[in-house]
Amino acid sequence: MILEKPLYDQNGKLLLKKGSVLTARNILAMHRTGVMSVRVTSSFEIEREDEIREEIQLNALKVIKEWNKSFDKKVFAALLKTIEDIIDEILSGKAVVGSLSEICLADTYTYTHSIDVTILAIAIGAKMGYNRKKLTCLGVGSILHDLGKTKIPVEILKKPGKLTPTEFSIMQKHPVYGYETIKQHDVNRISAEIVLNHHERYDGSGYPNGLHGNEINELAYICAIADVYSAMTADRVYRKALPPHEAYEMIIASSEINFTSVTINGFIKCIVPYPVGSIVYLSNGYIAQIYKQNPGLVFRPVVKILATNEEINLKMENDIVIKETVRQEDLRQLAIEGSATKVSLTNAY
Ligand SMILES: [Fe+2]
Ligand SMILES: [Fe+2]
Repeated sequence: MILEKPLYDQNGKLLLKKGSVLTARNILAMHRTGVMSVRVTSSFEIEREDEIREEIQLNALKVIKEWNKSFDKKVFAALLKTIEDIIDEILSGKAVVGSLSEICLADTYTYTHSIDVTILAIAIGAKMGYNRKKLTCLGVGSILHDLGKTKIPVEILKKPGKLTPTEFSIMQKHPVYGYETIKQHDVNRISAEIVLNHHERYDGSGYPNGLHGNEINELAYICAIADVYSAMTADRVYRKALPPHEAYEMIIASSEINFTSVTINGFIKCIVPYPVGSIVYLSNGYIAQIYKQNPGLVFRPVVKILATNEEINLKMENDIVIKETVRQEDLRQLAIEGSATKVSLTNAY
């Protein structure tokens, strides 16, 4: 296996270069340092979209790590610069593909998660036609949305199991803690509201204030969708990531329950259920890799059969459907058995 993306540590220091061959020894070393997953190249070139530059994401990572030390004017100025860089990338047509938490270490989750949320939120806002000023407000609120977690005890924050009701009620205070910190500084009111309301839900089931419908600002809904999507699709210490198509469908199904339909429509324009490079089971029994998207037909991309390299455009082949994404652990097993070619679907699930 060959690394498709470089691997960094929590300080943004390069651990392994893009193109490095993964030996048993460095895989073991990665396990020890807490690497959750990496992206490896496939046997054929796939057509990836132009992604947001890694250096911008790593700069953002450095800025966010300053939170723990202090939250002053200097940190805020650097943070604004990072948001402007991300807005430039999105407005120049760069796609939201993959996530930083995918290539960084487990204990940097809060930081990488904040960057992933910011990038997706800005992308959604841009698709909804927001102007630069509004996108900046959205970006500032999104990058700071979990700022209050710095006040939550580490034992609760990093607990590998389910939280007890008491622990959960402590955890639920993080939006208020973040909001209180921000209010002491000269941060836009809307951005502060995003921080306070990013766990509020359309039907009133959220926290901290159980707000309903349009009591919640649209920008807070956008940050909330990006937050939920990022949390569901990242590996955590206590559970494996959901495949993107499951997270995608769960968010769509929560229209007017958790989020507004307008903001969900913005989300649909930024995220695809089967990203290029992912491996899927097809209804004809073959395993294939997503090769290219068909614009507007997110469930019917162009795929390549792994066993034969045969290209199938699902736009033309109406009798073949994608059954589901092959999970990492199944893929490993199939590779060991040398059977990543055609599987009986009854065995595949
Ligand atoms: Fe949160
Ligand atoms: Fe979050």
